[in-house]
Amino acid sequence: MGIESVLSEHRTFHPDQSFVSRANVSGMVAYEKLCTAANKNYEEFWANLARELIVWKKPFTKTLNDSNAPFYKWFEDGELNVSYNCLDKHLSSQPNKIAIIFEADNGDINNVTYKELYEKVCQFANGLKTFNLNLGDRVVIYLPMGIEAVVAMLACARIGLTHSVVFGGFSAKSIQERIKDAQAKLVITADVQFRGGKILPLKAAVDEAFILGGCESVVGNVVLKKSNDAIELKNKEVWWHELIKNQSKDCDPIYVNAEHPLFLLYTSGSTGTPKGVQHSSAGYLLHAMNTMRWTFDIKGDDIYWCTADVGWITGHTYVAYGPLAMGATQLIYEGIPTFPHGGRFWQMIEKHHVSIFYTAPTAIRSLIKASESNKESNPDTYDLSSLRLLGSVGEPINPEAWMWYYEKIGHHQCPIVDTFWQTETGGHVITPLPGATPLVPGSCTLPFPGIDAAIVDEAGHEVPWGTGGLLVIKKPWPSMIRTIWGDPERYKKSYYPEELGGKVYLAGDGAIRDKTTGYFTIMGRIDDVLSVSGHRLGTMEIESSLVSNPLVAEAAVVGKPHEIKGESIVAYVVLKGKRPEGDEAKAIVNQLRDWVGKEIGPIAKPEDIRFGDNLPKTRSGKIMRRLLRSLAKGEEITSDISTLDNPSILEQLKKTIQ
Ligand code: WTA
Repeated sequence: MGIESVLSEHRTFHPDQSFVSRANVSGMVAYEKLCTAANKNYEEFWANLARELIVWKKPFTKTLNDSNAPFYKWFEDGELNVSYNCLDKHLSSQPNKIAIIFEADNGDINNVTYKELYEKVCQFANGLKTFNLNLGDRVVIYLPMGIEAVVAMLACARIGLTHSVVFGGFSAKSIQERIKDAQAKLVITADVQFRGGKILPLKAAVDEAFILGGCESVVGNVVLKKSNDAIELKNKEVWWHELIKNQSKDCDPIYVNAEHPLFLLYTSGSTGTPKGVQHSSAGYLLHAMNTMRWTFDIKGDDIYWCTADVGWITGHTYVAYGPLAMGATQLIYEGIPTFPHGGRFWQMIEKHHVSIFYTAPTAIRSLIKASESNKESNPDTYDLSSLRLLGSVGEPINPEAWMWYYEKIGHHQCPIVDTFWQTETGGHVITPLPGATPLVPGSCTLPFPGIDAAIVDEAGHEVPWGTGGLLVIKKPWPSMIRTIWGDPERYKKSYYPEELGGKVYLAGDGAIRDKTTGYFTIMGRIDDVLSVSGHRLGTMEIESSLVSNPLVAEAAVVGKPHEIKGESIVAYVVLKGKRPEGDEAKAIVNQLRDWVGKEIGPIAKPEDIRFGDNLPKTRSGKIMRRLLRSLAKGEEITSDISTLDNPSILEQLKKTIQ
């Protein structure tokens, strides 16, 4: 899966004429026209879209305020309500259209129409009002995938509360850190969640988070009942169904300023604890809608399915907000791709006649593997003819996986949109438009109209096509991150670093443009952020968690390429006591893996832990991570190690403990 094979990839796939003729952006000329319009009059381009797509309570008169750059403001004197734009707007035209088809882990199906979803959101929002919170107070949502997760998010938006969703796979400690950092006033959780045929506790983690302390800001905890087991709630805790009892099914939206923080979403960076990425209301909504229209080519009769969990940005933009604001019918699935067999996704596409399907390369790779194991898991077993468009997100997709997706799932009929974006960008920034852009496997192709992406060197100078460098975005755009919650300095330093001149957004990925087509290929993070099964994790977080274990003196964590997960986690550990061997080493490996699982979440458990008497450091005491990465891959160390203080420990660190 080396980058060389991606860069030498020149197979080109043109969209079918029948797709092009119906597409929302039809043909390359139409795409270029949009780019030219954006170039010519940048602000007016976005202002026109914002007038066209958003229903405003009070129209904006100013488009971009860059007087306090890089703290940009968009449409700042406009007023709107995001939940109004997702729900009320559709009530007269399509109240009975299905908004969400929900399929539970066990296969049960539950549909809600736009009218029903509106009522659920209003009722819950009225319930939330009983906590007497103030505009902009933070609400932590820790729920399984399902209709209620979307209801909780939209109910917050309806009354101007800022949600912060925490992925259900994160630990008690992660919840506690997020509650504390956001000074959250309310927590919304469920007793349990169902995944892959298992019942997993959720509320127990919230209880533990409170015990860890620092959660004094919280005044209430709403609990959704999913299981039949009787549990007693404590003080400050209330059942979801009790909270909405006797509440009206109408709730006037609270109109907020365009820049009002719709949500915080914590994500990993290269240093420190996860940061609360703050998003706006109007600019964010605008790009969520417009990318649904241009990237996903959404139409009234589509059945759309994005498999992401609402705990990640993809689940925010392309489950909770984008599809609903566009009035689409979408499928939401509670479970995992491989339960009860590796054909679950394909079976669901057949059953629900899904026409647009959006998932992560890691899922595709694991399903390729599963497809060979039995008939049920083989996509050929299912009728996938309803599909017309496929999407990929979260990590680079290798050409082999791309081709399998194109042939086996799309039957050569469906364009694949390989969408590059980040928690911070709010929505797609580099992506094909399916009825326009010729596709090359492994390349996310060209910038979305209005996104001024470029590749620069370490000094901030643009490099020629064919030369690798740092991916940047030269102009601000409406759905961009506004700040890091509570840490504006860190926002500036991380995304607008002085070294690059302080004026361009630094994505944190390396990239290269094709010499002739100018197509972008993402080469992976330039910092210490890993993508494990499409989940973003910081090596620093894992290191701090290891070091907080009483046995550990020092730890260094790196990623290594993994056939299915994209990357897997390798940890080099120095214990306070003697370097362990044999069974003792194995026992400590298990202990440390469990420790990280508890501290951060199971997704952060290192796959490979190795012990050394020391770590390879330069004479000035810097850990040589490049060397550790080579060791993790099993590469021979050929580089000069003369600056290394203690070369002998390399031998120790070569060994994986089985
Ligand atoms: C990576 C996920 C290659 C990238 C939406 C980015 C990708 C990080 C792609 C953001 C893609 C996302 N091709 N790499 N199509 N999409 N990435 O914040 O490294 O969870 O910086 O947002 O994922 O991860 P995040």
